[in-house]
Amino acid sequence: MNLLHNRAAAGQAATAEVSRAAAPDRLERLRQAVDEILPRQPDPDQRRCGYVHLYGVSAACVLLALRRGLEVELCAAAGMLHDIWSYQVGPNPEHASLGLPEAERILTMAGFSPAEVETICAAIRRHSDKASVHGELDELLKDADVLQHYLYNPALQPPWRQYPRLAQVFDELGLK
Ligand SMILES: [Fe+2]
Repeated sequence: MNLLHNRAAAGQAATAEVSRAAAPDRLERLRQAVDEILPRQPDPDQRRCGYVHLYGVSAACVLLALRRGLEVELCAAAGMLHDIWSYQVGPNPEHASLGLPEAERILTMAGFSPAEVETICAAIRRHSDKASVHGELDELLKDADVLQHYLYNPALQPPWRQYPRLAQVFDELGLK
């Protein structure tokens, strides 16, 4: 079963409503774990960026999941955890792979099934490869990542039309 498409799998009208009804507190458990990890980051700038970026990407994931009809809870969880390892130990170009055990630990603790953990971790593993095109959740996470970077401070970013992935998201959302 494609975990990302509750609407098709369950024959329900609204994907978001299905996911909320299924397990209302998993995302909160996951966020409690993130909120326990981030304060231990000794660098105040990294700590602040951790909260802003992880919660920001998670919110952008929900927005894009609603737009694309994907499973909002899985997408929100992917956004929350995609860089958690970086904010624990510091920036590392291999963080997408090195952070998988920690993401898996938190997801399992929060109550996500092994199949869901696998789906989310696959997206986390691929999220740094912005030049390639992967599956639906993988692409959603990459798009949410670049969107959050832009939204944090548009003045710091190059004009969005120069960045194809961001331009695609702007077009999808009808932004100008
Ligand atoms: Fe990120």
